[in-house]
Amino acid sequence: MRGFWRARTKAEPPGALSCGGKIDACLSFGRRVHMLRANDATGGIVREEDGFVFHPRLFENRNVVVTGAGRGIGLEVARQFLDCGAKVIVHTGRKPGRDLPDFLLTAESERRALLLNADFTAAGGAAQFAEDALAFFDKVHVLVNNAGTMLGRFPAATLTDADYEAIVRLNQTSVVALTRALLPALKAAEGAAIVNTVSISALTGGSPGSSVYSASKAFVSTYSKALARELAPDGIRVNCVSPGTIETDFHERYSSREKLEQTRKSIPLQRLGTAEDCAPAYLFLAAPSLSGYITGQVLEINGGQLIC
Ligand SMILES: NC(=O)c1ccc[n+]([C@@H]2O[C@H](COP(=O)([O-])OP(=O)(O)OC[C@H]3O[C@@H](n4cnc5c(N)ncnc54)[C@H](OP(=O)(O)O)[C@@H]3O)[C@@H](O)[C@H]2O)c1
Repeated sequence: MRGFWRARTKAEPPGALSCGGKIDACLSFGRRVHMLRANDATGGIVREEDGFVFHPRLFENRNVVVTGAGRGIGLEVARQFLDCGAKVIVHTGRKPGRDLPDFLLTAESERRALLLNADFTAAGGAAQFAEDALAFFDKVHVLVNNAGTMLGRFPAATLTDADYEAIVRLNQTSVVALTRALLPALKAAEGAAIVNTVSISALTGGSPGSSVYSASKAFVSTYSKALARELAPDGIRVNCVSPGTIETDFHERYSSREKLEQTRKSIPLQRLGTAEDCAPAYLFLAAPSLSGYITGQVLEINGGQLIC
């Protein structure tokens, strides 16, 4: 990546940035404004005043599918892919009609995003989503399997068959079903990448009431490693992002404030994570120019909560 670029004007779509002038740029990405300074030595990464963002054309002409992207980590991942010029199928969750941020609606109106819903605990939900996605994309360069949740806390003695079935269907079966259905389109896109969201609990076992959820994340982690070997001849890399304790609606539902504060104190970096802490890892693992020799790995994002 050589040269410098200028800031996009409001009239220009993402990806329309031209290189040339040595001008520091101020880009508005959703809620944040980044002061950018071009750096052609970093292979597609530019420095902002408080961290790094990726080059705005890193995923130009790339088709990306992100599940569980109506909120939380997935929403931020979708936003960053859009900011980097990708066309994105955004699975916004189970039902239509939830309040979505302006950047998604704008991307939809500019045909840079397609917003789809599907309930992955329902029989055939993942297959129907895949069918809808394939009607839009004949090639998929990046698949992010991120939709998931604990669905509640279920003590081992009182867990019902229906609870078990729903947790596994969402966090495990839908990942396999979606990957299988999109495989021909991933193979058709040369140099594709799959990035699966797992969890710190895949290694630690998680906290009480999360045994099946944690085990389903461990399944996805192992499945991803096996797939990495199997799909390498097709040029498809498979990796995972493993969040620690990230402040999203997830913990609003399943953890008390006191429990979260206790966890925060135990984390070496002394804070809980954010969706913004996680999202760059997905883009990194999806971009062949940044991680082309990385496959079968799990990237832990947890502020040092688990060091082993
Ligand atoms: N936050 C954390 O600390 C943490 C830690 C480790 C791993 N993770 C993992 O990170 C991923 C994202 O979690 P998050 O923290 O961003 O949680 P979140 O804010 O609750 O988002 C979860 C996403 O998954 C979707 N989803 C939930 N149930 C679904 C279903 N039955 N069918 C289809 N989609 C469904 C949600 O859609 P709706 O809006 O319809 O619910 C939402 O888009 C999940 O896989 C989670 O297990 C999170």
